[in-house]
Parts: sequence; C-alpha cells; structure tokens
Amino acid sequence: MPPPLPLTTIQMIPLLIFLFSLPCFLSNGVHHPTKKQNPINKNSTVETNMDPLEQETLFKIMESMSSDRNWRVSNPYPCKPGSSWPGLECKTNNRDTHFHVIRLDFGSPPNPTCKKTATFPPQIFNLPYLESAFFFHCFTLTKTTLKIISTSSSTLQQLSLRSNQALVGPIPPQISSLKSLEILTLSQNQLQGKIPVEIFSLQSLIHLDLSYNSLVGTIPNQMGNLKNLLGLDLSYNSLCGSIPPTIGNLGLLQKLDLSSNALTGIVPETIEKLKLLALLALSNNRLKGKSFPQGITKLVSLQYLLIDGNSMFMSSLPNELGNLVKLQELRLGNSGYSGTIPTSLSHLTNLTTLSLENNRLTGEIPAGLSNLSHIYHLNLSRNMLSGVVPFNVGFLKRLGRNLDLSGNPKLCLNASSQIQQPPFNKKSDAAASPSRGFSLFSAT
Ligand SMILES: *[C@@H]1O[C@H](CO)[C@@H](O)[C@H](O)[C@H]1NC(C)=O
Ligand SMILES: *[C@@H]1O[C@H](CO)[C@@H](O)[C@H](O)[C@H]1NC(C)=O
Ligand SMILES: *[C@@H]1O[C@H](CO)[C@@H](O)[C@H](O)[C@H]1NC(C)=O
Ligand SMILES: *[C@@H]1O[C@H](CO)[C@@H](O)[C@H](O)[C@H]1NC(C)=O
Ligand SMILES: *[C@@H]1O[C@H](CO)[C@@H](O)[C@H](O)[C@H]1NC(C)=O
Repeated sequence: MPPPLPLTTIQMIPLLIFLFSLPCFLSNGVHHPTKKQNPINKNSTVETNMDPLEQETLFKIMESMSSDRNWRVSNPYPCKPGSSWPGLECKTNNRDTHFHVIRLDFGSPPNPTCKKTATFPPQIFNLPYLESAFFFHCFTLTKTTLKIISTSSSTLQQLSLRSNQALVGPIPPQISSLKSLEILTLSQNQLQGKIPVEIFSLQSLIHLDLSYNSLVGTIPNQMGNLKNLLGLDLSYNSLCGSIPPTIGNLGLLQKLDLSSNALTGIVPETIEKLKLLALLALSNNRLKGKSFPQGITKLVSLQYLLIDGNSMFMSSLPNELGNLVKLQELRLGNSGYSGTIPTSLSHLTNLTTLSLENNRLTGEIPAGLSNLSHIYHLNLSRNMLSGVVPFNVGFLKRLGRNLDLSGNPKLCLNASSQIQQPPFNKKSDAAASPSRGFSLFSAT
C-alpha cells in the first residue's frame, strides 16, 4: 500500500506519522525525515514491500519447508531489514524499487530447520532474483526428487543440496537451464542414474561436487567443456568406464577427486596439462597401466596425490615422483608396485604422510626418508623390503604408532644401535610396550 505520490510538504507530516506506525517502515527513510528531498524519496516508502507474487512464492516455500514458526504471521515483511528472518537474504536492484530474495538457506540452525514432510521445493526456481540456495540435512525422511523448473533467465549462482538421505532419483537434464550456476554441490544424497550430459553445458561452473551418491554410468567426454572449473568431485559413486582424455582441457583445475568408483583403463596422458592441480585423488578404482602414469609426475603443483587401491599397476615407482616437491600426502598403497622405493622421495621435504603399504616393493628403505622432518605417518607394511631400518631413535619416537613396517619379514633393526630391540613375531608384546610405539613385526 504505497501512498500516492507526489506529496506537498504539508501533506508529508501526517503521512510520516502514519508511516511511523507501520511495522514495515524502513529505518532508511524514517530516521532522516527532515532530509531536504523534494519530492519525497520514493524508494524509502516502497522498499518495505516485495513484489506480491514473489512474496507469496516465498511464503509458500516457507510453509512447505519449515514449521519452526508461522512465517506469515511472525514475519509479514520477510525482507524488512533487521527483521531477522534467518536464512533469508534480500536485496534491492536498480530495475525496480522492490526487495528481492537472493539467498535461501535451510537445514542447520540458526537457519530454518526442515520439517519431516518437507520435499524439495521447485518453486525456488520461480524466485526471479535468487542467487543461492542451500539445503543441508533437510530432506531426511520423506522421499523427494530434484525437480527443476526451467526458466529462461535464471540468476542462480549457487545450488547446494548436501546430506539429504531422502533425496533420491536422477539429476534432471533441466539442470542445464541454470545458466548462471557457478557452484553446484549435490553431495551426500541418494541421487541415482547417470550424470546428465546437460550438466556439462553449464559453462560458468567453478565447482562441481556430486560425491557420495549412487550415480552410475560413465563420465562423459563433454566434461572437458567446463573450462572454468577449479574443483571437480565425483568420488564415492559407482561410475565406470575410463577417465575421459578431455580431462586435460580443464586447465584451471586445482582439485580432482574421482576416488571410490569403478573406473577402469589407464590414467590419460592429458592429465599432465593440469598444471595447477593441488589435489589428485583416484584411490579405490580399477585403474591399470603397464607403467606408472607418466603424466602424473609432471603435476608439480600437487600437494595431495592419492592413487592407492588400484591393484593393477604392475610397475615400479618412477624416480620422477621426487619432482613433486610440494607433496604433503602421497598414498600409493595396495596397488601392486614392484621394484625399490625411489630414493628421490627424500626430496619431498613437506611430506607428512607416505603410504606404500601392501605392494611388492623390494630392497632397502632409503636412508633419506629419515630426513623428512614433517613426516608423521609412514606405512611401508606388507612389502618385501629388506635390510636395516635406517631410522634413528628420534624418528621412531616422533612417529610412534604411525610408523608401520610390519609384514616385511626380511627387514631388521640395527641391534647395535640404541633402539631397544622388539621381540620378534610377537604381536601382543609389540602392542603392549609403550616405550616402542611403532609396529615392525606385528604382521609376521
Ligand atoms: C531509488 O533507488 C535507485 C536505486 O537504488 C536510485 O538509483 C534512485 O536514485 C533512488 N531514487 C530516489 C528518489 O532516491
Ligand atoms: C612447504 O610448506 C611450507 C609451509 O606450508 C611452504 O611455505 C613451502 O613453500 C613448501 N615447500 C614446497 C617445496 O612447496
Ligand atoms: C640428510 O640430511 C643431511 C643434512 O641435510 C645430509 O647431510 C644427509 O646426507 C641426508 N641424508 C640422506 C641419506 O640423504
Ligand atoms: C598400514 O597399512 C595396513 C594395510 O596394509 C593397515 O592395516 C595398517 O593399519 C596401516 N598402519 C598404520 C599405522 O596406518
Ligand atoms: C648399526 O648401528 C651402529 C651404531 O649406531 C653403526 O655403527 C652401524 O653402521 C649400523 N649398521 C648398519 C648396517 O646400519
């Protein structure tokens, strides 16, 4: 109910009194009623209102989602500044004088919690100015699907549906209508079916996270279209087929996690083009190769390289691994590697975790590993290593139980060094001795 405009100064006085009594009046205009503005600042009177259609859509969404309160009664002017409706953000723009909903956030207090019967509200796509929507631990009891109403001019930049165990069914192809999407997080739901190829038409995407679902099928070649991608996480699904060589087109990628799927084939050589990659996780797939994937040894930005649990690498570990000097975590366990541990690993001065367990590595432990001053987790268990353990007492004490050399029957401690010799082949004794935390012979 905006007052008729324009107004004379005389008319303004009763109007201001009237406006003061309105619960929805904006502080913006009210606190400076003497401001010499003629005609009266139109914005300050109209801004209290929303577009009626948009406001009604918002109330319908709130009523269907949350019974924390009676939203219509408790917050009749949802966008009013200072009216503290949690999880809601509004903004004016310069096209009209209304407030518009730009952010909706459900699920975790202080944001509105979701009621048991809440289902995914496709009406959010009818909020014409919405920029971000979050649903965290929201759809947990009533099964619901992700339904997208296609609009020609979606402004949605971030859609995040995380940890909703009752969110089932496929990712709909209509997702391609969300042209402004930069961040799409659909992690830890029960989404099924294939990754729709339409997702790869979302050229603005910066982060795509579909991890921890039940997605099947292959990773489409079109993934290479997402040239702006910084983060791609498809881990913990049931994806099969090989990693598309078009992965090399994602030149800005910093994080790539495809672990815990059923991916086969080789790691494509094109991966070497991902010069900014800091995390590469391909663990627990069925990747194979006659030699260690050479492309990986060129990724000099890598801080985390996790490719354990791919039991088909029937090869030795390349000395070039020592070029990845930024590495903090290197996991190569359970993969069938043979040959010796490259001495170059001692160049990885920032390494905190090195896992080479359950391979067929032979030879001695490189003495240089004892120079890795940040390492706190070293697992070389279940290999065929031999010779004298090159670590001094300080190193052994520092790692304690995080050092695992068990399951290497030909490995021995230097009896003349200061290390208290552990009793051979006695798991229980080893576990009981607090002075010697690491486990050397526990698995033999
Ligand atoms: C109303 O707001 C718009 C955008 O916020 C601004 O450009 C315009 O100058 C304002 N009008 C008045 C009368 O203050
Ligand atoms: C090792 O880590 C430190 C601290 O995070 C960092 O400043 C340094 O650049 C790293 N070294 C290499 C070789 O990346
Ligand atoms: C360990 O580091 C010290 C000091 O930098 C160096 O003298 C020694 O040769 C290194 N040991 C190995 C086995 O690389
Ligand atoms: C080392 O790896 C083995 C698997 O070979 C695992 O059982 C053990 O818990 C690991 N040890 C440590 C200290 O992480
Ligand atoms: C065993 O330790 C002693 C004393 O620390 C050292 O002199 C000797 O070279 C070591 N032997 C081996 C094989 O490392």
